Amino acid sequence: RKSVVRITTGSQALDELLGGGIETLAITEAFGEFRSGKTQLAHTLCVSTQLPTNMRGGNGKVAYIDTEGTFRPDRIVPIAERFGMDPGAVLDNIIYARAYTYEHQHNLLLGLAAKMSEEPFKLLIVDSIIALFRVDFTGRGELAERQQKLAQMLSRLTKIAEEYNVAVYMTNQVVADPGGGVFVSDPKKPAGGHVLAHAATVRLMFRKGKGEQRICKVFDAPNLPESEAVFQITPGGIAD
Ligand code: GTP
Ligand code: MG
Repeated sequence: RKSVVRITTGSQALDELLGGGIETLAITEAFGEFRSGKTQLAHTLCVSTQLPTNMRGGNGKVAYIDTEGTFRPDRIVPIAERFGMDPGAVLDNIIYARAYTYEHQHNLLLGLAAKMSEEPFKLLIVDSIIALFRVDFTGRGELAERQQKLAQMLSRLTKIAEEYNVAVYMTNQVVADPGGGVFVSDPKKPAGGHVLAHAATVRLMFRKGKGEQRICKVFDAPNLPESEAVFQITPGGIAD
């Protein structure tokens, strides 16, 4: 049997909330309002995953699928320095790909799975899981097909997590409901419906606090209490 590895988020409080960190063999989803820290956590995990296991890392490489064009290699530098790692070496161990359509996103996953069978990866990031589906399937009449394709992609992610013992960290958007004719986003409602709810092992809801403070709430997880943790976004990444 493969054993679970827990990767530090950079925040002690957040790690404790998660029972030690982001887990391999599982899919962790983060959703919440804009600028709530979903992508910043992705950047921090890019580095912490490469730490040795005795430093709460995963001792492995990182694959990053970016559908929103928000990955910043220069953000990795101060985060690597904070953890005492060489930024160039850290960047070399992040396999990055930008996806432009949901089909492209799916094909990238297939390619990454092949790479993971050859090299020791410990984290797969998809930021965000849903954005391209929302662009590629617009009308109401396309919703059933969208959900079917989304389910296929999520089952691929589950398979990767289990086959290669990696942690999957995916971000999700919140839904926008028509309220009085105007679409208003609901920061407490994740997109993707029951298909996404079913696939995610751990669902986390992020929101903004004061300044650089952020709050993470366990929204749905089989083994975790529904409590909250406060963390900060710092130049060195996610911290307490
Ligand atoms: P969306 O993708 O728009 O839904 O938001 P998100 O949840 O991915 O937000 P993201 O992780 O991009 O967080 C953005 C916030 O991180 C900004 O509002 C800043 O407060 C903070 N931030 C971004 N870059 C830096 C940085 O270099 N240093 C510090 N200290 N904070 C940063
Ligand atoms: Mg983001």
